[in-house]
Amino acid sequence: MSINDLRGRLALITGASGGIGSACADQLAQHGVHLALTYSSNLEAMNRIVEELKTKHAEHQLRISVHQVDVGSAEQIEALFQQIEREHEQRPDILVSNAGYGKRFPNVWDITLEEFDYTLNINLRASFILVKGVVEHMKAQRWGRIVFMSSIAAQGGGINGCHYAASKGGLTGMMKNLSTRLAEYNISVNDVAPAMIGDTGMIPNANAIPEVAAGIPLKRLGTPEETANVVTMLCKTGYMTGQSLLLAGGLK
Ligand SMILES: NC(=O)c1ccc[n+]([C@@H]2O[C@H](COP(=O)([O-])OP(=O)(O)OC[C@H]3O[C@@H](n4cnc5c(N)ncnc54)[C@H](OP(=O)(O)O)[C@@H]3O)[C@@H](O)[C@H]2O)c1
Repeated sequence: MSINDLRGRLALITGASGGIGSACADQLAQHGVHLALTYSSNLEAMNRIVEELKTKHAEHQLRISVHQVDVGSAEQIEALFQQIEREHEQRPDILVSNAGYGKRFPNVWDITLEEFDYTLNINLRASFILVKGVVEHMKAQRWGRIVFMSSIAAQGGGINGCHYAASKGGLTGMMKNLSTRLAEYNISVNDVAPAMIGDTGMIPNANAIPEVAAGIPLKRLGTPEETANVVTMLCKTGYMTGQSLLLAGGLK
């Protein structure tokens, strides 16, 4: 097995009921990766996605487990890992920490402290807890891939406020630190920083953000599949670590 062969690995993808997370699940399934998928509220979407995955990738005979988790709760994340161990008899080899939240309050005076704390909990603290849940297993086997879903907001761009920017910028900082600490164990840590990805709960289509969409140099929204391409590339390319990859149609 080559060092970057993903077949037979187990990936935990949070927020797999959403646009980007489900596209990541589809691509990793194409590579023969077993899946532990989480959703928070949208069981209907999750069930539909799992049915599609099972049909489309039947030849791989994948184990696909589904878990309801509020990633704002450390207890629920711990329970998630117990369930994964029961169902897959191991902890994940690949972590795609993708579940995210961002209520659009562009101006600091409209962002309450509660909104700030909540956003940081879901987007940043959860990834810290998730990493702690996977890292011992990855260290022991000297193989692991960690990908955070950051955002163009981490660099000051995007349509959201400073609370969201802080949560995503925090992810990139944590990623860069972890990448240097974990390299000796052959664990790569990177993030993807998308902007204006359509077919998602965050941005259903260009009509949801007409002025912003018109200003994208490539003149269209990005797709969940394009975002998943980058996640898959990072999982397949262990020599790349410590990178934040902007996927933004030419936006800065
Ligand atoms: N769309 C974009 O243009 C864009 C740009 C930059 C970054 N991102 C990031 O991409 C990631 C995926 O978002 P998306 O665009 O695919 O939007 P989405 O379709 O709304 O997906 C969001 C996912 O996160 C889950 N989630 C939300 N709150 C959660 C919580 N408290 N606990 C557990 N899961 C929770 C949702 O679960 P349920 O639906 O089941 O509740 C859903 O699966 C997010 O981190 C987002 O910040 C998106």
